[in-house]
Amino acid sequence: MGFDIPEPFVWDESFKVFYEKIDGEHKNLFKAVFGCAKEPGSASALTNLVEVTANHFENEEGMMTAKNYAGYPPHKKAHDEFLGKIKGLKAPLDDATLNFAKDWLVNHIKGTDFKYKGAL
Ligand SMILES: [Fe+2]
Ligand SMILES: [Fe+2]
Repeated sequence: MGFDIPEPFVWDESFKVFYEKIDGEHKNLFKAVFGCAKEPGSASALTNLVEVTANHFENEEGMMTAKNYAGYPPHKKAHDEFLGKIKGLKAPLDDATLNFAKDWLVNHIKGTDFKYKGAL
């Protein structure tokens, strides 16, 4: 998919959606994926990723529904699919899985989250 994956995998200002809470959560998501990449065999890094992701999606979805955001249904579906996938993972994570998670996060923020900028 389209957008460059940062290396090392760290949030930068090009990912800003300009909602402080969400930008903070996105930073933590990058950290959680980074943690999995650093220790692919760590079950707790994977558990943390699932928790941080679930928490972020819940908050982001709450902000969208509070504003009756029109793009909510497909956005929610994308969240559910990703969360379902990572919930089904078991450590150790292989490179393909780690790259999938990095690629998904980068492209979801820039391709999908960016659409709600200014609308929430
Ligand atoms: Fe999202
Ligand atoms: Fe997000």
